[in-house]
Amino acid sequence: MKLWGGRFTKETDELVNRFNASITFDKRFFKQDILGSIAHVTMLEKQGILTCDEKDAIVTGLKGILDDIENGSLVIDETAEDIHSFVEGTLIERIGEPGKKLHTGRSRNDQVALDMRLYIRDEIIEVNDLVKDLMKVIHRIMKENITTYMPGFTHLQKAQPVTFAHHMGAYFEMFRRDRGRLRDIYDRMNYCPLGAGALAGTTYPLDRNDTATLLKFDGPTFNSMDSVSDRDYLIELLSAFSTIMMHMSRLCEEVIMWNSDEYHFVEMDDTYSTGSSIMPQKKNPDIAELIRGKTGRVYGALTAILTTMKGIPLAYNKDMQEDKELTFDAVDTVKGCLALCEGMLDTMKINPEKMEASAKQGFTNATDAADYLVNHGVAFRDAHGIIGQLVLTCIEKGISLDELPLEEYKKISPVFEEDIYDAISMETCVERRNTIGAPGPTAMKAVIAMNEEYLEET
Ligand code: ARG
Repeated sequence: MKLWGGRFTKETDELVNRFNASITFDKRFFKQDILGSIAHVTMLEKQGILTCDEKDAIVTGLKGILDDIENGSLVIDETAEDIHSFVEGTLIERIGEPGKKLHTGRSRNDQVALDMRLYIRDEIIEVNDLVKDLMKVIHRIMKENITTYMPGFTHLQKAQPVTFAHHMGAYFEMFRRDRGRLRDIYDRMNYCPLGAGALAGTTYPLDRNDTATLLKFDGPTFNSMDSVSDRDYLIELLSAFSTIMMHMSRLCEEVIMWNSDEYHFVEMDDTYSTGSSIMPQKKNPDIAELIRGKTGRVYGALTAILTTMKGIPLAYNKDMQEDKELTFDAVDTVKGCLALCEGMLDTMKINPEKMEASAKQGFTNATDAADYLVNHGVAFRDAHGIIGQLVLTCIEKGISLDELPLEEYKKISPVFEEDIYDAISMETCVERRNTIGAPGPTAMKAVIAMNEEYLEET
């Protein structure tokens, strides 16, 4: 059923119908559309705009439609213009006259603004939970790897020793901030646009506070023109999603490197790897690569909506219908990637020996060797120069600092004694870094305990 047509003398072109229609994608929020309508008519009756019988007939009709769509006995007709037309048309078909009063004091502009917000609100909660599930796996890996030494990198050059717990802890922080962003967006968007009408409110005595409360919003929106044309919350959401994807993508990039033969720090489980059609030896980290790849797709959605919105005059314009497909695609992508990333990490095997061997090979303890000299009264700048020379000697000999004989140390500085070897061991290098946020076990355990509380509370 078309919701309009009275002032037209000709049928719209079939191509126009299809181009204009949104049912193929907005059918996704049939439930939100129906729940919004139930709240609307509940309020209309309280305000004396509908009789009790009319309201009851409409609510029963709408609940029947909801049940039937959910149990599969009512199939959404994709020749309808949009989900709003489909629900209203089906209601009128089923209950007759009272159904025609459903749209009193409402426009599809405030209706769609409401439906999308209700839908997004639910999705924010789901994405938030999925990020938390991923964090739980990271937390478990952290707890198990407090003394798994590995090289920390800057410029992808080995820098100083850290632990795998510490490295993964960096991602825990990123995802903690991501959840904070989702929470902020939720709080900022949780105002009800219903009652804004087409753009200028309505002449009926609607109680907008009532519908806002019925639909669990913090209150009604304050400007009816803004209410029907605000898509800021979607822009914020897609930005937060882009950041989540960026974080996952960085993690995946590292996992791909670590899983390579050159590193062999980790090994992807067979259940999260794929093979090659030609090279029998291959076991590829396709899942990590796909998550990294799909990041571009979510950025694309953000850019698309920013571009769509930038030239739209107030109030509603049909351009805004474009917000749906790209947001839905981003929601599906982020949710899928989060679940897969969690499974991939959870099944990943960690090779502590490889990590530690790699940390030992790259002079990651050179700063600690310099600190040894500083602790024996040498100025840091001089110490830096001395250790630089020792590193050069080691490179020439093809050995590491802990393999260099004490005579060689003493040749350059008499300050060195036997205890230099203990001072530059991986254990010492890591164990002495215990300021909060550092990889040392005392600091790490304190952070893990705080993370544990965070996961219990939020
Ligand atoms: N499908 C439309 C959208 O997504 C619903 C609102 C239609 N409003 C209108 N005035 N044509 O934006």
